[in-house]
Amino acid sequence: MIKKVGIIGSGTMGSGIAQVAATADCSVKVFDTNLDALDRSKNVLEKVLTRLVEKGRIDTEEKQRIQGNISYVHTLKDLGDSHLIIEAIVEKLDIKQKVFSELETYIAPDSILASNTSSLSIASIAAACDRPDRVVGIHFFNPAPLMKLVEVVPAVQTSADVLDKAVTTIKEWKKVVAVAKDTPGFIVNRVARPFYGEALRIYEEGLADFATIDWALKTKGGFRMGPFELMDFIGNDVNYTVTETVFTAFYYDARYRPSFTQKRLSEAGYLGRKSGRGYYDYTEGAEKPEP
Ligand code: NAI
Repeated sequence: MIKKVGIIGSGTMGSGIAQVAATADCSVKVFDTNLDALDRSKNVLEKVLTRLVEKGRIDTEEKQRIQGNISYVHTLKDLGDSHLIIEAIVEKLDIKQKVFSELETYIAPDSILASNTSSLSIASIAAACDRPDRVVGIHFFNPAPLMKLVEVVPAVQTSADVLDKAVTTIKEWKKVVAVAKDTPGFIVNRVARPFYGEALRIYEEGLADFATIDWALKTKGGFRMGPFELMDFIGNDVNYTVTETVFTAFYYDARYRPSFTQKRLSEAGYLGRKSGRGYYDYTEGAEKPEP
């Protein structure tokens, strides 16, 4: 039984996954190298749960139970007694490999190590470990508490037992599991690359502006968010890096070519909602352009 869960990285995804595990009554420890990020995560959880109480979806007792299940820790070693550790840090292979390799020195032999990577190879993350058989991909979607689907991705090294435990746990957390092969972008992020890429090409060719493309996809295509709203929601830095990884991993297949527009926004720090500006301006009083 997975009852103790460690989360590495308390950003957008780590915070949401912590909420999911705590709601399922796991005891959750969250670690981040950035203490401000830990504080932010705690504050965001308070706001999210307060809103759920206001909407009548949970009561205050439930809110306290969820918050009581989460603690915030300051060293990786503190995660040592976890049955399952889910990593949700920056999308860089060498940094993830370093964290996994260090983790192995603290954890029990039967602990499972999972990565929430959107696009990196699980096999190459596992290869940094002495026991690659206990490494698996567990890929949540944003926002983790709301999105039902989770891709569980076994690497070639992953044992059948670890895959089975990962699938069982995620189902116990009331999510729907798709077991995906360890290929770049897995299922959803691979399908999504041409969606973003083509929207960016339409903009770059001067055929329509962001607002018009988003409007068309929402009102006529039935999407809840347009591609530019979605990229701003995900984060332009995260979205660009995923595209770059998938493009490179598919031997520079033109279908996945990244966009200079997104690269420049990312370099400028226009990351989307989380930085207050992306394709759109989210600062107070800013008006959203009409299609
Ligand atoms: P984020 O930028 O919101 O948060 C990352 C956090 O990791 C930051 O708080 C940072 O301080 C921390 N961090 C960085 N290096 C660390 C280290 N060595 N040890 C501990 N903490 C460290 O990123 P986000 O969006 O939560 O993404 C995290 C992972 O989840 C990435 O691999 C991303 O590809 C994946 N992902 C992101 C989705 C999204 O929509 N943003 C959706 C699904 C997966």
